[in-house]
Amino acid sequence: MFIKILGAGAGGGFPQWNCNCANCRAVREGKPGFSPRTQSSLAVSADGVTFALLNASPDLRQQIAAAPQLSPGPSDGLRASPIKSVVLTNGDVDHVAGLLNLREAQAFSIYSSARILNVLAGNRIFDILVPELVTRIEFPFDEAIPLQGAGVDLGLAVRAFPVHGKIALWLEDKSAADFGTRVGDTLGVEIIETATGKSCFYIPGCAEIDDALKARLKGASLVFFDGTLFHENEMIEQGLLGKTGSRMGHVNMTGENGSMAAFENLDVARKIYVHINNSNPTLDAASKERRIVNDAGWEIGEDGMEVTL
Ligand code: MLT
Ligand code: MN
Ligand code: ZN
Repeated sequence: MFIKILGAGAGGGFPQWNCNCANCRAVREGKPGFSPRTQSSLAVSADGVTFALLNASPDLRQQIAAAPQLSPGPSDGLRASPIKSVVLTNGDVDHVAGLLNLREAQAFSIYSSARILNVLAGNRIFDILVPELVTRIEFPFDEAIPLQGAGVDLGLAVRAFPVHGKIALWLEDKSAADFGTRVGDTLGVEIIETATGKSCFYIPGCAEIDDALKARLKGASLVFFDGTLFHENEMIEQGLLGKTGSRMGHVNMTGENGSMAAFENLDVARKIYVHINNSNPTLDAASKERRIVNDAGWEIGEDGMEVTL
């Protein structure tokens, strides 16, 4: 199985268009140790020919241009794409807006939960992806189903499962304590290569790592995990958005309930942070925070990073 990080940034990317924080300034200035990151998406393939996208970011056009595997090949027809399926893990702008880049009458399939598919159904702009060509398939929870799209089988199966999280930011009901969040608003997925049974997990948004999730991830070969914030209060402390990691629906890297602590005894062979917010000090390769996560066995995802499992 081949996996490519198309975008390792969180919503807004790195640098974020309107952000003048120390990190964003440093990456704009080309300071050593800082590299830009587009918004959150991975591409996965079993055969190197057909691909599934895991989330469709607003930067998808740029991401496709930067990944030769994702464009039509010389022997393809006049209209063709290696992208046969798109898996969506939530309804936030950073994960669904890229669907609009996939218009132009191309067949593919979209897989997600009923909750997230309802978000697409409730927004007529997504009807530009006409149902005759673009099929929408609801994931059963906890059951691996084959990924298919445009009449081909990708040689991959996906087991989707709900994780703690939050309804999309733009759909929040401010009058409700849980903002109107329901099961299925945030998913984790296990991608399984059908021929070999090898698998990896992709969980770019997660508000809490409970025992069930720990049991699921125990002994995994490869996990791409929510790396939004290093510290619960980093955005507030930097004078940016007045929100904690928890309020945004993201578990932090640090803290007793943070991801580094939760993964400590899970024996995951390779752990890569994705969906990294521009405020995160680990974006500086020379920072003490980068050393802390590296010492705990974590990698900080980069755009273009390729992994073969
Ligand atoms: C998030 O992950 O918290 C969202 O992407 C926020 C947003 O849509 O800006
Ligand atoms: Mn996001
Ligand atoms: Zn910034």
